[in-house]
Amino acid sequence: MRASVRLRPEIAALPPYRQGRPAPADGFKLSSNENPHAPLAGVAEAVAATAGEINRYPDATALPLRERLAERFGVTADEVIVGAGSVSLLAQFIAAAAGPGDEVVYSWRSFEAYPGLVTVSGAASVRVPNRADHGHDLDAMADAITERTRVAIVCSPNNPTGTIVTAADFDAFMARVPGDLLVLLDEAYIEFVRDEASVDGRSLIGRHPNLVILRTFSKAYGLAGLRVGYAVGPEAILDAARATAIPLGVTAASSAAAL
Ligand SMILES: Cc1ncc(COP(=O)(O)O)c(C=O)c1O
Repeated sequence: MRASVRLRPEIAALPPYRQGRPAPADGFKLSSNENPHAPLAGVAEAVAATAGEINRYPDATALPLRERLAERFGVTADEVIVGAGSVSLLAQFIAAAAGPGDEVVYSWRSFEAYPGLVTVSGAASVRVPNRADHGHDLDAMADAITERTRVAIVCSPNNPTGTIVTAADFDAFMARVPGDLLVLLDEAYIEFVRDEASVDGRSLIGRHPNLVILRTFSKAYGLAGLRVGYAVGPEAILDAARATAIPLGVTAASSAAAL
């Protein structure tokens, strides 16, 4: 049926996020990079212990979790933001920095959600083809940055190709991009990286006032079903992402499990 209300045409044309086929009961969804291992017993207990609180709203900023992450990363709790999965945080940062008339640059192919998140923000996607070895072409990405570019997304390791961005290439990229361009380093799979040449956002904290790193509990930590991810970066940028958030996205159960 055609919609009887006036929708944004770009949204009406946007296919909704489609999951892959459901996995059988004893299987897992490799296409979503689900963790094949069963939840840890301690995590299941921590989640069960929150059952008595489900008639209450969660702590809106998940402060205890932010404090713990802040300790780990050597930053203040205000330099950490948590969200309902890192995909929520990606949406918040893109919405905070880019709108109609603006551009968001990323490598393609990469994480399936990027194009839709950019369209929802009202900005336009600028997709820079992956190199022949499926890695990011950071030089071409830097070349693609114009006056209109507000966000560049770098995904390492890249979903779906598994390629890393090296620390040296990332440094060179950061040196080339304008200092007022928001760079999002999506490290959803960083815990699986064994290549010492790889970029590691943790070592870059405090070095770039325009860089935010995003991580998740969904993959290595096996909490995909609870929806909890986080980002670390300069407080002012995170404040803007706090402003674009749908409030109360991280539940007490999610926080408890992550802690
Ligand atoms: C590269 C990348 N970033 C972010 C995410 C989002 O993960 P979540 O929202 O579960 O934290 C995924 C999930 O597939 C991903 O592959």
